[in-house]
Amino acid sequence: MQQRTLAQFQVSAVGLGCMGLSHAYGQQDESASLATLDRALDLGVNFFDTAEVYGPLRNEILLGKALKAKRDQVVIATKFGFTYRQERTDFGEITGTDGSPENARAVAEASLRRLQTDVIDLYYLHRVDPAVPIEDTVGAMARLVEQGKVRAIGLSEVSAETLRRAHATHPIAALQSEYSLWTRDVESNGVLDACRELGVAFVPFSPLGRGFLTGKLAPVAELSEGDFRRSLPRFQPEHAQVNRELVRVIEDMAAAKGVTAAQIALAWVLAQGEDIIPIPGAKRIPHLEQNVAAVDVRLDAADRARLDETFAPENVSGSRYPAALAAMAQK
Ligand SMILES: NC(=O)c1ccc[n+]([C@@H]2O[C@H](COP(=O)([O-])OP(=O)(O)OC[C@H]3O[C@@H](n4cnc5c(N)ncnc54)[C@H](OP(=O)(O)O)[C@@H]3O)[C@@H](O)[C@H]2O)c1
Repeated sequence: MQQRTLAQFQVSAVGLGCMGLSHAYGQQDESASLATLDRALDLGVNFFDTAEVYGPLRNEILLGKALKAKRDQVVIATKFGFTYRQERTDFGEITGTDGSPENARAVAEASLRRLQTDVIDLYYLHRVDPAVPIEDTVGAMARLVEQGKVRAIGLSEVSAETLRRAHATHPIAALQSEYSLWTRDVESNGVLDACRELGVAFVPFSPLGRGFLTGKLAPVAELSEGDFRRSLPRFQPEHAQVNRELVRVIEDMAAAKGVTAAQIALAWVLAQGEDIIPIPGAKRIPHLEQNVAAVDVRLDAADRARLDETFAPENVSGSRYPAALAAMAQK
């Protein structure tokens, strides 16, 4: 497995986003999840992404169990900063943000226990809390680094300006935001440029467009009742039918190269720079295997230009989040 550099860590060029194993995307099965995590380790994946809110809590517990025996060989990233209410059994409803120093400390302690470890490699603020200056949140996270409870600090879905303020408080190792063929905001809003200027690694989440860019995702009406994608504008039929036409270009390119559409979508993300470390999510082992193999898929300049043009932001229909969640992003 090719490696990429994320601050002091050498991580697999493709990490594993673990959210779907316990949260948001329908059916979950612990023994299947453990098998997927084992297979990821076998394939040389060493970068695992979780969060307090995934499950909530269950995803960290799962990772603790799966990774304990290989703890010194893996880089575990987790996140805090959402508040949530758990009325459903399959995932918690997000109610707001809490970036207070107290919450940064309390969640870190609880995450350490759930992950069965004595240090969190990468601790992200999941969303900026508008009621707490970023300097205060990052200051508390920096204290956790001093105490040896956290190795490196990350942020998620912040603006370039917030990243700069945070980085002036304590070096930021990684910024995680949505980035894929159909979500290109970080190219134009200064975020990717700021990461490069400051030497911050960029971790694209949902690099497969939450499955849509693979061409294999069932229509939204067929997703299970609790599937989070049912609430996302882009997946609704009026938008999905426009976006599905764009995905055909990925499928044609994949067919010509003898690879899958998922691999083309991921190869495009990987080709954006050595500082980019995507974390595709996969519950199914064949999906995981395909995604790992995407590191060997080459796109030439003409391929990339075709994809860039096809997925120009004005060609993508529908927003990525409903209004309440959009209001929390890119702060
Ligand atoms: N910071 C944040 O706010 C934030 C937000 C969202 C996600 N994330 C992180 O980013 C990770 C990845 O994002 P994501 O899971 O939302 O979306 P994603 O990686 O873009 O897509 C995951 C979906 O694609 C399917 N899939 C994966 N590989 C495939 C393949 N080769 N062929 C066909 N289908 C395939 C998966 O199916 P199966 O699961 O059935 O295999 C799943 O439904 C998450 O797990 C989480 O750790 C962070």
